[in-house]
Amino acid sequence: MVLSLSFALAWVGVALAVGPSPSQIKNLVTFGDSYTDVVSVGDGGVAWPVYAARDGNFKLFPFARSGATCSNNLTKVPFPSLFESQLPLYFSEKVNGSLRLEPDETIYTLWIGTNDVGASALLTGHQTPGVTLVDTVSCSINWIKTLYASGARNFLFQNMIPLQHVILYSPDSYPNRFWTAQRNTTEWSVFMTELVNAGNAISKLMLEALAPTLHGAHIGLFDSYALFSDMIAHPQLYLNGTVPLNVTGASHSCVFELNESTSSGGVCTDNVGPAADSFLWFDELHPSEQADRVVAREVAATIRRESSKWATWLS
Ligand SMILES: *[C@@H]1O[C@H](CO)[C@@H](O)[C@H](O)[C@H]1NC(C)=O
Ligand SMILES: *[C@@H]1O[C@H](CO)[C@@H](O)[C@H](O)[C@H]1NC(C)=O
Ligand SMILES: *[C@@H]1O[C@H](CO)[C@@H](O)[C@H](O)[C@H]1NC(C)=O
Ligand SMILES: *[C@@H]1O[C@H](CO)[C@@H](O)[C@H](O)[C@H]1NC(C)=O
Ligand SMILES: *[C@@H]1O[C@H](CO)[C@@H](O)[C@H](O)[C@H]1NC(C)=O
Ligand SMILES: *[C@@H]1O[C@H](CO)[C@@H](O)[C@H](O)[C@H]1NC(C)=O
Repeated sequence: MVLSLSFALAWVGVALAVGPSPSQIKNLVTFGDSYTDVVSVGDGGVAWPVYAARDGNFKLFPFARSGATCSNNLTKVPFPSLFESQLPLYFSEKVNGSLRLEPDETIYTLWIGTNDVGASALLTGHQTPGVTLVDTVSCSINWIKTLYASGARNFLFQNMIPLQHVILYSPDSYPNRFWTAQRNTTEWSVFMTELVNAGNAISKLMLEALAPTLHGAHIGLFDSYALFSDMIAHPQLYLNGTVPLNVTGASHSCVFELNESTSSGGVCTDNVGPAADSFLWFDELHPSEQADRVVAREVAATIRRESSKWATWLS
């Protein structure tokens, strides 16, 4: 009786185990936008997946591409989107046998949304008519369903950072390489705060609803919003450069004239080398390399189950 009860409890424990086990994951497959692109790197140095692969001892398979939105059906931008470019490339490599990944040993990450909600998309009304935040977030959840259907089993979904604090969307913004046209920066910041917070709340609810339906899957939600909010509140815990810590400006800051072409250079101020590590932002839209080292460290620790500070395993 005692034996069979402990057997039953052990079985329940296995069936309900959430998250991969500590040394289970060997491969890291990354999807997303410039925050995650390892070729066209957004942070002015080395991208976070390269550091995460080092920190976690994973083999890296990077599919994220700069400028990406979830789907060009929803927000049409001239960049390789998740559904029309990144996933098709992954599947073609899988089908022709150049990519062979054991599902149990492989985790898939997605960090997207910045371009979906941003200038030239939802923020400025440039989406496909009728498309809303609900559609772009649903699309990112469909990334899990699509990969699961092809055999993938481990997923880490990285939500959006507090984008109202990047210089492009802050109330005291200035014309920059991403936007030089006239705008009301207060209104942009207010709207961006709504988009990011509502989007993250919707993705959390959708992930919680999805997790119990995908048998044998492990789904984690990595709270980038909370991590970046903490970096803003306590920069001394994360930033370590040689000039005063700075969470409002960019290490590569370029001020443009109103209406100036975004392809001209602007007037730039650069903090490079050890000084750059004092900054949270690299430019007016992207986290710095030091911020990305922190993201890498925390993502690797999440996957190896050494930390549960910024992530929740839903299954
Ligand atoms: C995009 O639209 C095409 C054509 O209607 C459709 O086949 C495809 O499934 C859509 N993709 C997404 C991600 O919704
Ligand atoms: C498999 O597909 C990828 C992506 O289309 C291509 O780059 C690669 O050369 C192909 N490999 C083989 C062995 O056919
Ligand atoms: C910008 O928008 C805010 C909020 O709607 C408003 O209070 C402010 O007057 C606007 N500024 C300008 C210059 O129009
Ligand atoms: C932060 O960096 C920006 C851009 O270089 C600069 O203008 C600003 O004065 C700095 N702020 C602090 C508090 O050092
Ligand atoms: C910038 O462009 C807008 C729209 O074309 C125009 O109304 C405004 O006067 C221009 N401002 C400057 C300083 O060029
Ligand atoms: C800051 O810390 C990172 C590790 O997180 C280290 O790689 C980097 O060299 C440090 N930067 C400076 C300027 O000491």
